[in-house]
Amino acid sequence: MNDTATCALVLAAGKGTRMHARDLPKVMMPILGEPMLWYVHRALSPLFEGRMHTVVGFGAAHVQKAFPEHEDRFVLQEEQLGTGHALKVAWPRLKEAGYRWVVVVNGDTPLLSPQAIGLLVATARERKAALAFLSIQAPEPNSFGRVLRDEDGRVAAIIEAKDYDPAKHGPAPREVNAGIYCLDMKFVEPLLGWLSNRNAAREYYITDLVELAIADKNTVLAVNCGDDLTLMGINTPRELIEAEEHLRADIVREHMNHGVRLHNPSACRIGPRATIRPGARITGPCEIVGDVVIDHGVVVDAYTHITESWLSEGAHVRHFSHLEGAEVGPGCVIGPYARLRPGAILEREAKVGNFVEMKKAVLGRGSKASHLTYLGDAEIGEGVNIGAGTITCNYDGTNKHKTIIEDGAFIGSNTALVAPVTVGAGALVGAGSTITKDVAPGTLAVTRAEQRQIARRK
Ligand code: UD1
Ligand code: CA
Repeated sequence: MNDTATCALVLAAGKGTRMHARDLPKVMMPILGEPMLWYVHRALSPLFEGRMHTVVGFGAAHVQKAFPEHEDRFVLQEEQLGTGHALKVAWPRLKEAGYRWVVVVNGDTPLLSPQAIGLLVATARERKAALAFLSIQAPEPNSFGRVLRDEDGRVAAIIEAKDYDPAKHGPAPREVNAGIYCLDMKFVEPLLGWLSNRNAAREYYITDLVELAIADKNTVLAVNCGDDLTLMGINTPRELIEAEEHLRADIVREHMNHGVRLHNPSACRIGPRATIRPGARITGPCEIVGDVVIDHGVVVDAYTHITESWLSEGAHVRHFSHLEGAEVGPGCVIGPYARLRPGAILEREAKVGNFVEMKKAVLGRGSKASHLTYLGDAEIGEGVNIGAGTITCNYDGTNKHKTIIEDGAFIGSNTALVAPVTVGAGALVGAGSTITKDVAPGTLAVTRAEQRQIARRK
């Protein structure tokens, strides 16, 4: 839909009290590594690219920081007085921008699909509705707003759970409001002033617009999506985990359909931004989240965590490794038990073994650090061998300094390289040395005290 007269408004100002998360706003809670709100924006973006506005309030700074691309389309609702109030706060912005229709979406509906939105908008347009909303048949009406219809099946009202009185409204229907609305601004504007907070929650309900619009002789529609559980709002930790599980299973199935060999798929948590090319193999439980690329022929062994990283063809990440912000070249071997932190770059066929940590360090082509090593703020050339227990001492308590190890150097075990320091090409550092001065190319440097032989006292 390329319709510049229609915009989207995401309501994301609430705290989410029922999530019991203290300071984290509900819409920022992660699902497979991405905040809930990210998914809502993703569902809306094919239809409303550049026309997506978001109401923020509780933890606003946190939310805004996480979505810099939406910077100029946030609206602040300082006090969260209800969904109807959130709409009223955003209204002037939408009017100024000249929109005629607004699709309002609760920010806690992360599984929502662009198709559902498309259906809502198309139906609303076709039937010239002043207000249309999506409804579902919930297994339990729980905290959802219930949809009341008259004898002719026409929508009469949405009654919130807290206000629902079986004596007055009859037995609760299974049809509930999904919290996704398409409003014709021309017809809804005169109704906004009538919203009141005289109800059980003392909040201004957006859902009261239904009765108000009907009273004003407008067309109001509920577009029923049956038991489409992707439209369920998330209010509790359990619902969050269930939604995550639903998404997880979809993502994993998709990767398998595209030729990724995923063993034990039910224990693989793979986020929506990970690209895994056909022919890659994942041998067991893992967590792969954020912006990750795993190329053809890569093997990721079980119990590995990978985020914001790039793994090139034929690389092998062995069990229990942790990669964050790493770039791994073709044919490299990592782990078991390796830790690659942001800025770790391994060039073709480099090797990092168990209990090796790298941060902001380049390990050149074919170089090896096989055991128990820390490489931080380092530049290591090609064909270098880093002995077990080598440590780059990069921090002097105030600043970080760089270690440079040139091509073909050999660093003996248990060496401390006190940065800033350079070990020249082809140099050899004797085991157990503490290197504080540059080592010239092709030389041997040893700093340890000479071994003495002293006869034992009898
Ligand atoms: C709402 C609907 C209910 C519907 C359900 C669907 C109302 C009054 N009720 O109930 O009919 O069945 O969603 O999931 O709308 N928010 C703000 N500002 C506020 C209050 C809330 O931006 O002042 C945001 C929240 O961050 C949330 C969304 O609006 O993303 C919905 O609020 P929530 O409190 O979860 O409404 P429900 O009780 O679930
Ligand atoms: Ca909700």
